[in-house]
Amino acid sequence: MAGDALDPAALAAVRAHVAAARRVCVLTGAGMSAESGIPTFRDALTGLWAKFDPAELASEEGFRAQPQRVWDWYAERRVGMRASQPNAGHVALAAFGRRRPGVLSVVTQNVDDLHQRAGWPDTIRLHGDILANCWLEPCPRGRACDPAHAAAGRPPRCTDCGNLVRPGVVWFGEMLPEGAIDAAERAARACDVMLVVGTSGAVWPAAGLAATARRAAAQVAIVNPHPSEIDDGAHWVLRGTAAGVLPALLDTLD
Ligand code: APR
Repeated sequence: MAGDALDPAALAAVRAHVAAARRVCVLTGAGMSAESGIPTFRDALTGLWAKFDPAELASEEGFRAQPQRVWDWYAERRVGMRASQPNAGHVALAAFGRRRPGVLSVVTQNVDDLHQRAGWPDTIRLHGDILANCWLEPCPRGRACDPAHAAAGRPPRCTDCGNLVRPGVVWFGEMLPEGAIDAAERAARACDVMLVVGTSGAVWPAAGLAATARRAAAQVAIVNPHPSEIDDGAHWVLRGTAAGVLPALLDTLD
């Protein structure tokens, strides 16, 4: 099952399961966007966490302690994400979904918009959207976080009450958006095949979705060039990259 190269027999087997599936759920992680030039979190050397302490930058307490440092880190990541393009994996996934209406669900841990820009707007975002903003404190007037109400700054502040603007992502220790995790659980329970693409499986509850699918009798296949924490729970391991495996897996399926 596992190996250090893509096993053509495993690829053919997973393709056959996808071809026959009424529902396919795809869970993606940072590795899905790696070939678009966006750094992953935990890959040695290239991973973001190799350079930063996540608790300092991707947490509310980190933001409250050093708002400008955290704001600037997200501003830098936003520049990189806006400059990136969907890769062949994003494109193959969206094209497959369009060819098979009602079959595909995409659940992502990523905060970039590459699935959407590849043509899959219904992507379920578990960890939010780095290109969106929200207020740090609940607005006493219940106002949406609107740049028109925020004075420029790093970070911007509300012109009336000084509320800070923060990135619209889920930080460590925060709850996932309820609607997103419910939709993801439903998709995992309803699918016949789950493809888990480009995630280390280190962060829950996202990592638990593969086990949810397996308990619902779905075939679970991992797409990852390296071993992950959830390989053992999968039926198949396709040892390759998102941009390499997904077109090979999906492009010939109508
Ligand atoms: N194609 C597929 N997978 C890849 C590729 C690639 N080209 N390059 C790297 N990978 C794999 C790595 O082997 C690793 O297993 O992608 C995975 C990336 O793992 P992480 O960096 O841990 O990212 P992810 O699993 O998405 O992290 C989950 O943790 O830090 C939080 O909120 C953050 O959403 C993130 C969550």
